[in-house]
Amino acid sequence: MVQLLVLALLCTVVVASSIPTRLKTRDTQSKCRVLAGDSAWPSKAKWDQLNSAVGGRLIASVPLAAVCHDPHYDEKQCNHLRDRWTSPEIYVESPVTPMSYWVQNATCDPWTDRKLPCQLGNLAEYAINVTGSADVIAGVKFAHENKIRLTIKNTGHDYLGKSVGKGSLAIWTHHLKSIVVKKDYSQPWYKGPAIKFGSGVSGINAIVAARDAGLRVPGGACPSAGFSGGFIQGGGHSPLSGAYGMAADTALEWEVVLADGTLITATPQQHEDIYFALAGAGPSTFGVVISVTVRAFADGPTGGASLSIDRKGVSNDTFWKGVTHFQQALPDFNKAGGQSAFMVTGTKFDLIALTLPTYNNENQIRQLMSNFTKNLDKIGLKYDLSVSVNPTYVDHFKKYFGPLPWGAFAVGGLMSGRFIPSSISEASPEKVVSVYRDIVDKTQIILGSTAQDVSINSNRKPVASNSVMPGWRSALQTIFMEAEYSSTISWADKKAVESQLVDFAERRIDSLVSADVGAYLNEASFSPEVDWKTQFYGSNYQKLVDIKHKYDPNNVFWAMTAVGSDALTVAADGRLCGA
Ligand SMILES: Cc1cc2nc3c(=O)[nH]c(=O)nc-3n(C[C@H](O)[C@H](O)[C@H](O)COP(=O)(O)OP(=O)(O)OC[C@H]3O[C@@H](n4cnc5c(N)ncnc54)[C@H](O)[C@@H]3O)c2cc1C
Ligand SMILES: *[C@@H]1O[C@H](CO)[C@@H](O)[C@H](O)[C@H]1NC(C)=O
Ligand SMILES: *[C@@H]1O[C@H](CO)[C@@H](O)[C@H](O)[C@H]1NC(C)=O
Ligand SMILES: *[C@@H]1O[C@H](CO)[C@@H](O)[C@H](O)[C@H]1NC(C)=O
Repeated sequence: MVQLLVLALLCTVVVASSIPTRLKTRDTQSKCRVLAGDSAWPSKAKWDQLNSAVGGRLIASVPLAAVCHDPHYDEKQCNHLRDRWTSPEIYVESPVTPMSYWVQNATCDPWTDRKLPCQLGNLAEYAINVTGSADVIAGVKFAHENKIRLTIKNTGHDYLGKSVGKGSLAIWTHHLKSIVVKKDYSQPWYKGPAIKFGSGVSGINAIVAARDAGLRVPGGACPSAGFSGGFIQGGGHSPLSGAYGMAADTALEWEVVLADGTLITATPQQHEDIYFALAGAGPSTFGVVISVTVRAFADGPTGGASLSIDRKGVSNDTFWKGVTHFQQALPDFNKAGGQSAFMVTGTKFDLIALTLPTYNNENQIRQLMSNFTKNLDKIGLKYDLSVSVNPTYVDHFKKYFGPLPWGAFAVGGLMSGRFIPSSISEASPEKVVSVYRDIVDKTQIILGSTAQDVSINSNRKPVASNSVMPGWRSALQTIFMEAEYSSTISWADKKAVESQLVDFAERRIDSLVSADVGAYLNEASFSPEVDWKTQFYGSNYQKLVDIKHKYDPNNVFWAMTAVGSDALTVAADGRLCGA
């Protein structure tokens, strides 16, 4: 909080000192958004007007690492920041700085020379600390009328940097934290317990609020990622998904501010096209979501297991044989309604959590895992296994995905991913594992995955037709490949990391599954070569683009790889222009 206050104080200084460069006049092509410094950029008086309209909650951007550069260098604060640079906390609390180091692009970095200027780079110029739909409407209208790029930032988890944009006005949703439990929600499309979450509610706050009402909702594995922002709008896989489906499958209604500045409620029967589009293909595309109401499920005992294999002293062949046995066991874990979150690296195999939402007996869990563990015993591979039954889902979550509230995941990596369909995983686990082996043993990439069955059945029935990428339904698992991408490595090394992911790892995955099988848009490749229309949206794309044109013909909302985003491109100077 102290740090935020200091940064807030810095704002005025930075704005004042940057005025000379903004006086440069440059005419903007009519098809482009304006940037600070253009003659068409709104005057100070206009920004002041907006600031009054939003109750003084307009914030001039200051990158987090401004305190690490002249003229605002402050050693103590800079060191404090460095200690926290890989934790989600500082980004969640920042109106503008995203977690992805790739998108930050070291334009204001705590590890670079203090004499280098701190620049906004890809970050927004201003953010509105919104407290409700009126602030959002004011921001959307201002951006549209003044041809300013609009961005929406919640926590800043997005791997593709979709929550930021150069020269933009950001709608910062972090403080939309209301939670309303509706024990007896009753509409034609669903009757039963439901919870309404403001769009700034985090995953952990969502599941804790549900627990307090004796309920569960499928939040993600990362406690600090938002619930109602990019997570559920992008589909949202949860440790509970094997039992209840994707998070988007539980959506009952959305309160959303559209591009024309109107606030609507989209349900399966009213603005049903927006309902459909937001549930799976939504982030940064159709409007600013103010809240989502989701169905909730009865809480109760939750089964869990973790199993790790240390590679030290183990031959590569034996180790990978063990991983193959794990792959062979996954269909049984999925059939049990489980989700397996696991990763493989140069040093270990780690089943971080097998979550079994309906299991309440440790022997039952050991039994489920016994084919796998017997196979490991047979090849003499040692492992650490622990199983548990916790009284509530939150207790389970704490044990496996803590420490709370920030979790164990470090931020900033570069990402790529792909669905692996059951047809391939089950028919040829050896082939799947040989590709894993190449990627893990020939690069520094961390290979992770969540496996769960989210095909539609009577337990996992979406509330209504939605835009969850169809590839999810036939996937046995979705893999993600994460490469370390720190700001302390050289430009050449960054390029090498990018190439390892795109030119090597993704091509190895291609040899297993064709790219059109799809990928999870929230954990997918940043590569500009990717055919994202097919990979991220599949057969829904045409319908989605029609909805986009109907509600946002001027592309007020734009983000890389969002539906319809090929209408605009980012020019060399970072300006967003008509393609
Ligand atoms: C460490 C880590 C763990 C993760 N674990 C999981 C997981 O278990 N399951 C899973 O499904 N995903 C997971 N993800 C991916 C996560 O779902 C995405 O990063 C998601 O985009 C985060 O949404 P956010 O709103 O918190 O983040 P932001 O980066 O703030 O926003 C993400 C996108 O949503 C848009 N957006 C945000 N709020 C709104 C709004 N109110 N209206 C319209 N658009 C909005 C933004 O503009 C941006 O395009 C993980 C990511 C990380 C970094
Ligand atoms: C980072 O900066 C470099 C050099 O200015 C630029 O070429 C590149 O496109 C930028 N990357 C991103 C993701 O903005
Ligand atoms: C944003 O607004 C909330 C009130 O909704 C306030 O508590 C918080 O301090 C504000 N944050 C900043 C950085 O202005
Ligand atoms: C273990 O394997 C046997 C033989 O393949 C199979 O019939 C059984 O369903 C498996 N058990 C479990 C718990 O998955």
